[in-house]
Amino acid sequence: MLAYFGDLIERKRTDPRHDMVSMLVGAHDDDADTLSDAELISMLWGMLLGGFATTAATIDHAVLAMLAYPEQRHWLQGDALEVKAFVEEVLRRDAPVLFSPTPRIAQRDIELGGVVIPKNADVRLLIAAGNRDPDAFADPDRFDPARFYGTNPGMSTDGKIMLSFGHGIHFCPGAQLARVQLAESLPRIQARFPTLALAGQPTREPSAFLRTFRALPVRLQAQRGG
Ligand code: HEM
Repeated sequence: MLAYFGDLIERKRTDPRHDMVSMLVGAHDDDADTLSDAELISMLWGMLLGGFATTAATIDHAVLAMLAYPEQRHWLQGDALEVKAFVEEVLRRDAPVLFSPTPRIAQRDIELGGVVIPKNADVRLLIAAGNRDPDAFADPDRFDPARFYGTNPGMSTDGKIMLSFGHGIHFCPGAQLARVQLAESLPRIQARFPTLALAGQPTREPSAFLRTFRALPVRLQAQRGG
């Protein structure tokens, strides 16, 4: 992997294109605070890992939603706005990243919900809990793509923001790519495997951070006679 990324950085340095790796390499080449190759490699590695497991888990969560709520599948047969609404609701209801990977440091004492967060405290934001906050999303356990129909990405019809891609300066740079991947893949799964069914109990990875699956067995075609 080190050789792969080292070679990739070198190629993007000599022949930059309109892509994220070129931008990262270029953005810091003419900067006084230049990133070393080791730092760039570490970022690219994080991007690769952070980008695959999260998007794959969201596809799994979407498949589970399709199976649990067949009456909502029609969103995946609709136009781009309807597909987008389904994708956003899957991301909200089943955030694959459970808490913010980068700590936030309190700049001053802050009182929140009757608790004082002291200055300099390391604060981890519970993304998944925020996404199911009943003050932000009424009846939050309900799977309801209508919450996100016709809105800006990540925003509900009443202006609430789902946090699955984080917030602020560390907001996920892969969010739009992930959304495109999901909007492309989910309608195809729905169209190609209309009789998709669970073929066993899903097994989750035991992780407090990422909500991913070790196995999610499905039957793609209906069995003969049933
Ligand atoms: C459904 C898919 C994805 C989810 C749920 C997700 C979620 C997140 C979250 C919660 C953060 C932290 C944001 C914060 O602290 O405010 C993050 C950061 C990050 N994500 Fe994603 N991500 C996804 C896909 C991707 C993809 C496809 C890529 C790369 C192409 C990517 C690259 C990154 C990187 C590099 C960061 C660190 C940004 C920083 O610290 O400034 N992610 N992501």
